[in-house]
Amino acid sequence: MRTPLVMGNWKMHGTLAEARTLATAIRDGLKRPRGVEVVVCPPFTALAAVGEILAGSPIRLGAQNCHWEASGAYTGEVSPAMLAELGCRYVLVGHSERRRELGETDQRISLKVQAALAHGLTPVLCVGETADERRQGLTFTTVEGQLRAGRAGMMPDAVGKIVLAYEPVWAIGTGVNATPAQAAEVHGYLRGLLSELTSKETAQTIRILYGGSVKADNADALAAEPEIDGALVGGASLNAPGFIAIVRKTARAGAAVRGE
Ligand code: 13P
Repeated sequence: MRTPLVMGNWKMHGTLAEARTLATAIRDGLKRPRGVEVVVCPPFTALAAVGEILAGSPIRLGAQNCHWEASGAYTGEVSPAMLAELGCRYVLVGHSERRRELGETDQRISLKVQAALAHGLTPVLCVGETADERRQGLTFTTVEGQLRAGRAGMMPDAVGKIVLAYEPVWAIGTGVNATPAQAAEVHGYLRGLLSELTSKETAQTIRILYGGSVKADNADALAAEPEIDGALVGGASLNAPGFIAIVRKTARAGAAVRGE
């Protein structure tokens, strides 16, 4: 069975002092999270400091982006090797904010997925449709295209090592989350596609997270869906008690799904 995963994406928020305070509060509030894996993704500038605070704790470190080369003349970029050195285990790839506002292409996203894997990082490939695409009935087409492009060039067995995050663009930062049924429908579709791209068995092991206005008061209903394996949390991950509540509710709902 899949262990639920809750990730906090801090985006471009927080001074170093604020990052330290938030990481310390999350670490101290989640000393022994059971039945759930917890990851925080601070801005690059805070990764080292947060890594030190989390060292020896069960909370893991992730990054919000990486380049696809291990090193080189790429001004302003950060390589997967550098992230691995800081103790990162995960890296978000293809977040819609990067696709839409920073011109990240499918081709670059697939290079990043492969580079992350090559450096021992788990890529969290983000997919999701816009409101317009949903209105036009293009939700499945959009996420399928993003998944197929993201795994281009990968061996089928490597696909089993990624995490997928379904983040409908219209739900990000809007306060309007996808309903559990809407999210579960897309997750089910993505899992079917993963079966085709890998194998039925491997697809059953891949975690598919939901992201988009996840809060303490909707986390349990979302995680109660058997196809939803956790949450990628933006705004609500900047508040330690709120984030901890999301983690606890996700763990409890996940245990119920497994019949525990
Ligand atoms: P919000 O939780 O703020 O909607 O952001 C979701 C997100 O983009 C996480 O990556």
